[in-house]
Amino acid sequence: MRKKLLLFMMMGCALFSFKSEPKSTGKLDVEIETKITKLLTEMTIDEKMGQLNQFTSRWEMTGPAPQGNNEQQMLEMIKSGLVGSILNVTGAEATRKAQTLAVENSRLKIPMIFGYDVIHGYQTMFPIPLAEAASWEPELARQSSRVAAVESAAAGLHWTFAPMVDIARDARWGRIMEGSGEDPYLGSLFAAARVKGFQGDDLSANNTIAACVKHFAAYGFIESGRDYNTVDISESTLRNVVLPPFKAAADAGAVTFMNAFNEIGGTPATANAHLLRDILKGEWGFNGFVVSDWNSVGELLVHGVAADRKDAARLAITAGSDMDMEGNCYVPNLKTLVEEGIVDIKLVDDAVRRVLRVKFQLGLFDDPYKYCDENKEKTLILSRENLQVAREAARKSIVLLKNEKQLLPLKKEGQKIALIGELAADKDVPLGSWRAKAITGSAVSLLEGMQNAVSSPANLVYAKGPAFVVGESKFTVHLKFNTTDKSGIEEAVKVAKTADVVVLALGENCFQTGEGRSQTDIRMKGLQQELLEAVYAVNKNVVVVLMNGRPMDISWMAGNVPSIVEAWHLGSEAGNGIADVLFGDYNPAGKLPVSFPQTVGQVPIYYNHKSTGRPSDGEGNVFWSHYTDAPNSALFPFGYGLSYTTFTYSDLKISSSEMSKGGKLNVSVTVKNTGKVKGQEVVQLYIRDLVGSITRPVKELKAFDKIWLNPGESKVVSFELTENDLAFWGASNQFQAEPGDFQLWVGPNSVEGLKTTFKLK
Ligand code: NOJ
Repeated sequence: MRKKLLLFMMMGCALFSFKSEPKSTGKLDVEIETKITKLLTEMTIDEKMGQLNQFTSRWEMTGPAPQGNNEQQMLEMIKSGLVGSILNVTGAEATRKAQTLAVENSRLKIPMIFGYDVIHGYQTMFPIPLAEAASWEPELARQSSRVAAVESAAAGLHWTFAPMVDIARDARWGRIMEGSGEDPYLGSLFAAARVKGFQGDDLSANNTIAACVKHFAAYGFIESGRDYNTVDISESTLRNVVLPPFKAAADAGAVTFMNAFNEIGGTPATANAHLLRDILKGEWGFNGFVVSDWNSVGELLVHGVAADRKDAARLAITAGSDMDMEGNCYVPNLKTLVEEGIVDIKLVDDAVRRVLRVKFQLGLFDDPYKYCDENKEKTLILSRENLQVAREAARKSIVLLKNEKQLLPLKKEGQKIALIGELAADKDVPLGSWRAKAITGSAVSLLEGMQNAVSSPANLVYAKGPAFVVGESKFTVHLKFNTTDKSGIEEAVKVAKTADVVVLALGENCFQTGEGRSQTDIRMKGLQQELLEAVYAVNKNVVVVLMNGRPMDISWMAGNVPSIVEAWHLGSEAGNGIADVLFGDYNPAGKLPVSFPQTVGQVPIYYNHKSTGRPSDGEGNVFWSHYTDAPNSALFPFGYGLSYTTFTYSDLKISSSEMSKGGKLNVSVTVKNTGKVKGQEVVQLYIRDLVGSITRPVKELKAFDKIWLNPGESKVVSFELTENDLAFWGASNQFQAEPGDFQLWVGPNSVEGLKTTFKLK
């Protein structure tokens, strides 16, 4: 009780002036809070402001080159305690050097926190997050994030700017590769798993790092899929679709959040008190800190809501953005704002408390160099065990989209295989976009993976085909695709003619996706379509291995080619993982976490859309919601994916046709492996709330289970639904399940499945 009272007194002074009072989740450590309170009394306003200031190291840029301080100035500022954090400094030696500047020179010796974009691995690269979500195995994401944390921590880092949990429905957006796709439920499970992987059970351990949940919020809803563009969504979409993964990440214990670049309905996220104060720090009781995105405080001027940098600092700190990343706004303006009485010092104190809290939680005050261990860095990074996890992740992320003539699995002997395409031999593209410290060209290529797998090397012939990308793929350089030099097609056709089966690697370069890489055309670039058609003309036994970071328009391919393997950008072990699938050493079980459109004109396309007042009648009649030149349906829907075996669903049962308020509903279905090999199936449960106080999606994923089945084996898969699973943010502005009729499906994807109904009383 005394402890609680003390805590209340300490927190109270910092919090009571806010518009909406945070409901602390109460997990605060009294000892840490006492130390912070003491430190705060010793800090000058300059030092407080400094804790809220983050600079990039001058050696690596992950945004526009900074206008502000030069390197020398930055070093001087660190020594004066004016820099609380640096991003983009990596390596045990470099981080130790930087930390020394702060700890041995600044008056209060407060350690800096080092952040970095460890999105899908530090140096051992895992599948891009969108791919990993196709595993429908959150535990896999926890493991890969764990490995990424161990490697990052060994390289002196304390903090990753991940997970990116933005729900994305627009394949044009380059950053769709960074998230878990279009579904809030699947996205929430992956968000929580990644947080747990990075942070482990004990944030103070020297092999765990702080997670940063981003981008808060609604970045995935930018108009026309163009990066950094405007967002204008309703509170209902915000609450029901956008926020669930953020909430799940906060509940999983994430200690930091990052602002989004975009505005929402006129208020940029960085200045959005509704998001930061009302929801995150208020309703959710978030005790960690919020970092702006790269200069997103400064961009408040360009958005047109701040008159100058001082005004931008005022807006951002008032709204609840605690740390200014590379914006040069908080320093020096917060001091002036406080001195002039424009910003209450309590706001600054609260932000500083939050930043210090995370530094204490990480154990940086006990040993500011605890993460800087050159020996660990050498032995832990890129270890054989880490690569093993990467291979497992690679094969589990693969989705078999088509296998009509049972061309797959391939035979390791007795079959002549032609492997074609520049991407097949590429050792860099599989590393993906946002690749942290991946060593350029270090991935196992598809060619190498297949060479490792075949029994007789002579049975595998490789032809490069025409050049794909011509021009550099550096950060600021946009890719140039070859559209004229057709040399290479002839050789590819020759090789294809004599083969039993052709494996054709097609898709995207990794730098076609990621930040700043939006596209209006999501078909294959360069001469890839021409190559595909030329090869298909001489050999119909074509298996396409698609390497990409976004859903693509592959309509022609899907209509013609018998086998398609969705192999994304799968990381360090890509080639081995794909070969495991191609040769049947691993039976693919991935399911799409995002819909694949038939044409870019359907975008945004997503399975959990609303009914509209005039849903298409399926016949294409005029006055219904449809296109005159394309169907409404996806080419490959959310949740879709095949196996080398087949499954049937039967006996869908529910425990009752009525569910009482506060009650439960048990749902069961029998799934049988009707094929010849052992396989895994992701059994998916969807519902539809037929009448609501606001309109409800036509389907919503509410549960799934991934099960193994031997040939001929049947299993009863059970789910338990509670009232909570039916709740949504409705007209009453709260989460609530509304009584009425529901439809329920259990099946292999978002389109097929057995159906029943029930009522919530
Ligand atoms: C901008 C990106 O939006 C964000 O995701 C990233 O963490 C920062 N730059 C830092 O590199």
